[in-house]
Amino acid sequence: MDLSARLEELQQVERFPPPDGFREQAVVRDAGVYEEAARDRHAWWERQAERLDWFERWDTVLDDSNPPFFRWFTGGRLNVSHNCVDRHVEAGRGDKVAFHWHGEEGEERDVTYADLHRDVQRFANALKALGVERGDVVGIFLPMIPEVVVAMLACTRIGAVHNVVFGGFSATSCAERMEVSAAKVLICPDGSRRKGKTAPVKQQVDAVAGDIGESLERIVVVRNVGDDTPMQEGRDVWWHEAVDAADPECPPEPLDAEAPMFILYSSGSTAKPKGILHTTGGYLTQVAWTHQWVFDLKPDEDVYWCSADVGWVTGHSYIVYGPLANGVTSVMYEGAPDYPDKDVWWALCERYGVTIFYTAPTAIRACIKWGEEYPARHDLSKLRLLGSVGEPINPKAWLWYHEVIGGGRCPIVDTWWQTETGAIMVSPLPGLTETKPGSCTIPLPGIEAKILDESTGEEKDDGQGLLVLTQPWPAMLRTLYGDDERFVETYFKRFGPETYLVGDAARKDGDGYLWVIGRIDDVINVSGHRLSTAEVESAIVSHPNVAEAAVVGRHDEDTGQAIVAFVTLREDGDDMERAIRDHVAERIGKLARPKRIIWSDDLPKTRSGKIMRRLLRDIAEGRELGDVTTLRDPDVMEQLKSKVAERQSEE
Ligand code: WTA
Repeated sequence: MDLSARLEELQQVERFPPPDGFREQAVVRDAGVYEEAARDRHAWWERQAERLDWFERWDTVLDDSNPPFFRWFTGGRLNVSHNCVDRHVEAGRGDKVAFHWHGEEGEERDVTYADLHRDVQRFANALKALGVERGDVVGIFLPMIPEVVVAMLACTRIGAVHNVVFGGFSATSCAERMEVSAAKVLICPDGSRRKGKTAPVKQQVDAVAGDIGESLERIVVVRNVGDDTPMQEGRDVWWHEAVDAADPECPPEPLDAEAPMFILYSSGSTAKPKGILHTTGGYLTQVAWTHQWVFDLKPDEDVYWCSADVGWVTGHSYIVYGPLANGVTSVMYEGAPDYPDKDVWWALCERYGVTIFYTAPTAIRACIKWGEEYPARHDLSKLRLLGSVGEPINPKAWLWYHEVIGGGRCPIVDTWWQTETGAIMVSPLPGLTETKPGSCTIPLPGIEAKILDESTGEEKDDGQGLLVLTQPWPAMLRTLYGDDERFVETYFKRFGPETYLVGDAARKDGDGYLWVIGRIDDVINVSGHRLSTAEVESAIVSHPNVAEAAVVGRHDEDTGQAIVAFVTLREDGDDMERAIRDHVAERIGKLARPKRIIWSDDLPKTRSGKIMRRLLRDIAEGRELGDVTTLRDPDVMEQLKSKVAERQSEE
């Protein structure tokens, strides 16, 4: 039977129970866990925290005396790097590979737990020698190389707070995030590689370092591409020199369970990114637990691979902290999925015997487009579980993933969560949960999610509304760095301090399964990357020839959503489309470049001058226009509609 006939047949199935062989061997087989967790949440989370090594046990599981500022495992002391590295080495597993690292040009480096133990201690001492103290912020702007993991763990060893910036962001964006977090040290590479080309990252950082402000004292440079790199005397230091000069022994600091662990900037409704703050004990507890349960992890047998970048929360929780806390062997890949050819992912799965693979729907859709001949070139028979994250997965992509990559035998875990939640919240447990393609199924044990009616705020048992989380969870964000007010305002103003507003709309079906629809705020999800329309707008209008801009998201077959920008120029110019796209790449990063720019003499505004994005969204999606009665100048819409039609006919 050919593939499309098979997919059509599968589409009729609608429900996929765990395969028998899988269920019998699964880490979690007892459906009683949901009720058990609901009956006594504190005891439940306490049991999960016991997975970790604590220097001192907590006195209180959950301090909820000042909601929404929840505190977990207070009084407890632990160290993340000790849990991710030392305890495996101490248990005699030092020779075990932590990462099979694979470089873009095919280089290979196996990093064992003992290697991490050595490198993390040395780099932690190097940081101390550079003046980094407990609570200081360290910026990390590195590509997917083992040093990024060492740098993160070294911070956690001494209680420094890391602030990782995705390597695909521009140096300008990185500098902004360093400035607002008052970073003391920034770690960057001399350059980075992408599809055979290199980018001079250090020089780009040099160009904007002046904007970071006085907090930034030192820049540590990792020799990655080996190009000549100017170093500023007194400020810049080579990674390898700092490490060589450092003392080899650095005992892990016993840190308070609530000690700040990392900040990760994420997009929100305004142009200013939110510094999402996570703390030590609760975060590590929930990532370690979810990584084992959701991925049915058997640390002695599995080879696990998450294809995300460490610069996103998925990389933090499910490339670095979850897998290392559980002592598993992972694959870490530096390059792009289509370089040197479109089968590179599947070649790596075969080469390292990957058993668990975790990726994003946008990547699956790209693979579908490239064709099934690429995975067909490789033996994927070791795979036994597949995961998806970052955006709703459309049933077609789910079925293709299941059939072509999973050979019809691997359960798929569609995991819903956010930078803010720190860890997976809604997902099947693969040995227990019957899955439905397109649904992330039900909240994990201990987690409570509800759908509230958009206008009345009443709970809905069935139907569509706002997704909220109604019980605190250990890995929840603690605040927005330096901005408690915005934290409360963003997540807890609408329904009060006990009800976390997720920012997604979702539907619950008659079985209680959740179907996430998408964001309700001005966040666009492009290829699983969160971007704010306001951030992109402000980058566009900072171009000297732009008078005004409005940005909206539109459905896109490949990337989930795509950015459409409506732009009014000050005067006509040459190749302005390219100029604006380049400008956005420089300000934010290539990922934020608009897919489509529509020139317009004017934008639809209310009488008080507010841009009506709702109408622009209707236009971008090619829908019937909504209510236009509040428009100051209704002719604007007609002009825009014909512009869009013109653009479409050009394609
Ligand atoms: C979306 C990524 C549907 C959602 C871990 C959420 C999803 C935002 C899923 C968070 C999923 C993430 N199904 N939608 N399985 N996973 N999302 O902070 O809109 O980069 O609010 O965290 O991605 O994106 P973030």
